[in-house]
Amino acid sequence: MLPKQDLCLAIIVLLAITSIGQALPMSGRVVNGTDSNVEKYPFVISLRGPSGSHWCGGSIISKQFVMTAAHCTDGTSAHELSVQYGVTTISAEGPTVVRVKKIIQHEGYNPYNNYANDISLLMLEEPLEFDGVTVAPVKLPQLAYATPQTQEGSEGVLIGWGLNATGGVIQSTLQEVGLKVYSDEECTARHEGNTDPKYHICGGVDEGGKGQCSGDSGGPLIYQGQQVGIVSWSIKPCTAAPYPGVYCKVSQYIDWIKRNQIVLG
Ligand SMILES: *[C@@H]1O[C@H](CO)[C@@H](O)[C@H](O)[C@H]1NC(C)=O
Ligand SMILES: *[C@@H]1O[C@H](CO)[C@@H](O)[C@H](O)[C@H]1NC(C)=O
Repeated sequence: MLPKQDLCLAIIVLLAITSIGQALPMSGRVVNGTDSNVEKYPFVISLRGPSGSHWCGGSIISKQFVMTAAHCTDGTSAHELSVQYGVTTISAEGPTVVRVKKIIQHEGYNPYNNYANDISLLMLEEPLEFDGVTVAPVKLPQLAYATPQTQEGSEGVLIGWGLNATGGVIQSTLQEVGLKVYSDEECTARHEGNTDPKYHICGGVDEGGKGQCSGDSGGPLIYQGQQVGIVSWSIKPCTAAPYPGVYCKVSQYIDWIKRNQIVLG
């Protein structure tokens, strides 16, 4: 069973996530994932909210910048946010927590238009030191890289600390789950036109039961070693068939990411 302090943390984190769930209906957690570790995905981070507990996922893109979802930063100030990096198990006491200096939220972010442009960059107070083992940047795709279409439950990987089911619990140990990456056409068809291939990419499994839930928001969907998606939203309950999870399509934002890093870096 859980040691007492972990249970305590889990409860604190669960409370935090539950409250986010209400404010941000689109957050997610990994359902039916397996234990993972930061050595395998050294770019993964836990974004901590105003209460100091896990709030969203994210990824390291350079020494000074982390990428997450705009719905994770909307309505918050930089001084309320911090980033825990280089860990498999998130913990209130650290180690390796760095404060956020500036939030660069996409100017076209629109929660009223199916969460269009759901991407933010976080400039960190101090640059990270890459060790190539537990702290390293993620590889981004080429601009306008064509959406791959993979097989059922394979190839695409979602990584996060989110809930294991709607109404489930936050996982203090990093989780991963293999997902199918859907073609633009199937993503749109399965959501009855409520997704747009300009902004969205879908990941899940046809029969449901695997994918994102609350607390996974902002975290990475990886395909062939590159981050193709940022967890954005999903139809509830989490992983309900026939709806795959919806991600912000990173390949559409490569110029925006570069431009903002240069201006502020
Ligand atoms: C979620 O995780 C908790 C604790 O690890 C476990 O007790 C529960 O059965 C899990 N729920 C599902 C739906 O897997
Ligand atoms: C996990 O997968 C199993 C088998 O595929 C499925 O029956 C179950 O509903 C899934 N769990 C959740 C929380 O969706």
